[in-house]
Amino acid sequence: MLWDELVTRASASTVHAYAPYSGYVVGAAAVVEDGRVVTGCNVENASYGLTLCAECSLVSDLHLSGGGQLTQFVCVDGLGHVITPCGRCRQLLWEHGGGSLLVLTPEGERALADLLPQAWEPD
Ligand code: THU
Repeated sequence: MLWDELVTRASASTVHAYAPYSGYVVGAAAVVEDGRVVTGCNVENASYGLTLCAECSLVSDLHLSGGGQLTQFVCVDGLGHVITPCGRCRQLLWEHGGGSLLVLTPEGERALADLLPQAWEPD
């Protein structure tokens, strides 16, 4: 899928974000191996530490809609600017896309293996 299209889907997801504490909304979108697009938004919590990143709800959407491996991923801020997934979420994405998952970053397309070297794996 063209990155522009996926960025548009991620931007559309930011309107559902719940970020009253940081004021920083995030939207995420990813392509699944069967061509589906799954999306997510961040959902904060008064305890701060229990905040769910946009990647968390994207992974829930992945499983709720049938599972599978992610092949392309992007997340954006409220202005539609491409941002990089946080460290914890790189591991989360690895579980569902592996090192070959293509991630759009502010510096261009990167394999997840380049963003998370020596990732923890089930085996
Ligand atoms: N956030 C995400 O949704 N994804 C990331 O990869 C980084 C951070 C959210 C969490 C919090 O609601 C806000 O951005 C500020 O950190």
